[in-house]
Amino acid sequence: SSKTVILVGGPSKGTRFRPLSLDIPKLLFPIAGKPMIYHHIEAAAKVPEMKEIILIGFFKETVLRKFIEETSKQLNISIRYINEDKVLGTAGGLFSFREQILEGSPKNIFVLHSDICCAFPLKDLLDFHNQHGRICTIMGTEIESKYANQYGCLVRDEKTAELLHYAEKPETFVSNLINCGVYVFSPQFFDVMGKTMVDLRTSGQNINTDYPEITRKGFDSERLRLEQDIFVPLAGTGTISVFPYIGFWRQIKNAGASVYCQELYLNHYAKTKPEVLKKADNIIGNVIIDPTASVDPTALIGPDVYIGPNVKIGKGVRIIHSIVLDQTEIKDHACVIYSIIGWQSLVGVWARIEGIPNYTPFLYSQDKRKGVTIFGSGAQANGEIIVSNCIVMPHKQLDRNYNNEIIL
Ligand code: GDD
Ligand code: GTP
Repeated sequence: SSKTVILVGGPSKGTRFRPLSLDIPKLLFPIAGKPMIYHHIEAAAKVPEMKEIILIGFFKETVLRKFIEETSKQLNISIRYINEDKVLGTAGGLFSFREQILEGSPKNIFVLHSDICCAFPLKDLLDFHNQHGRICTIMGTEIESKYANQYGCLVRDEKTAELLHYAEKPETFVSNLINCGVYVFSPQFFDVMGKTMVDLRTSGQNINTDYPEITRKGFDSERLRLEQDIFVPLAGTGTISVFPYIGFWRQIKNAGASVYCQELYLNHYAKTKPEVLKKADNIIGNVIIDPTASVDPTALIGPDVYIGPNVKIGKGVRIIHSIVLDQTEIKDHACVIYSIIGWQSLVGVWARIEGIPNYTPFLYSQDKRKGVTIFGSGAQANGEIIVSNCIVMPHKQLDRNYNNEIIL
């Protein structure tokens, strides 16, 4: 049997999700009409003999309760949240809660980062893991070399699939095969984690350079990083395999990324479950429309759009590459492109709300002229205005044109 752990982090990591993270924690942000980690859970639930899904993080339990109840019922899978009282790091939580994870003696433990989107080929990953017989398998994917150093970089033996070398966000080029944040562990891997921790402590050497205040006091016995503290020393010791994944993959570090990830998931749905996509004369490409939304037949929607519950779309409206959330109203002849319109917002007649797309990960921070436009909940755009590449805080009312601004 198997279990899945999703590392969900906590609210301090959600700052780049402003303003939307004010209303909803990042891990529940809707992508292709489902909360971010629903996609992970759905894939995990399909693995035969999946006993339980454990979310580990430092959110307040109450913000996740409703999602866990609903999803667990819908997908008929047991889901549990374990709270880290203090930030334990990407391996600290896994190690601290190992008894609960290993309860019931699962044979395989999948570990997934929450802030990624991909096809989650967990069955293939598991088959590969079993074939190669090591106690840990990392899913790797090839990306353009110039972005590789923003991720964990993997050097793999082509013949044996062993991880030979691991470098976390290296300054110089190491490899364009990167760590996807999707792993499968055998139970013995938890023992190895424990040994590594003891070694780190007894050597007195602290490689935890992210936290200088900890360095001075000696090794932080609880904050343990899967990447630098575990994968780096274990590379080349016959412990870890790398599964080469070919397919879509992307990190979700800011709210704007959800628009690009939504496009990837919708493309995937077109192949795997086309029945969720809306087909009509006024729909172009892949579109999901909640059945409670009302869309005027003269509005033209798509490609790559999600329209949420109780949204109202007026006559002659045009929506492309966007996410329109619950109870928002888009008035007649308005145009919404590469934007996320938060809950209960309003876009006036003939207004144009546009983002300037940038499909290249990480370039957004270098090129401020490009970005997805985001309306926080309850924001309102008056009629006939143009809002281009802006982030609008909740409940703002816009009465003139804006360009490249964060509107507070
Ligand atoms: N529970 C818990 N506790 N979760 C955590 C913690 C923690 O202390 N710290 C991070 N996480 C979760 C985050 O929510 C996210 O899902 C995942 O762990 C990794 O987050 P980061 O620590 O921000 O790392 P990163 O995304 O910059 O890089 C990692 O992921 C890349 C793939 O997306 C590294 O593992 C890279 O090597 C990898 O390429
Ligand atoms: P933290 O680093 O978490 O504090 O968040 P940050 O927003 O300060 O940093 P980030 O690197 O995410 O973004 C840098 C700047 O790029 C932001 O302040 C925004 O101006 C802009 N930006 C980031 N993401 C988007 C987006 O999705 N759309 C638009 N229009 N701008 C964005």
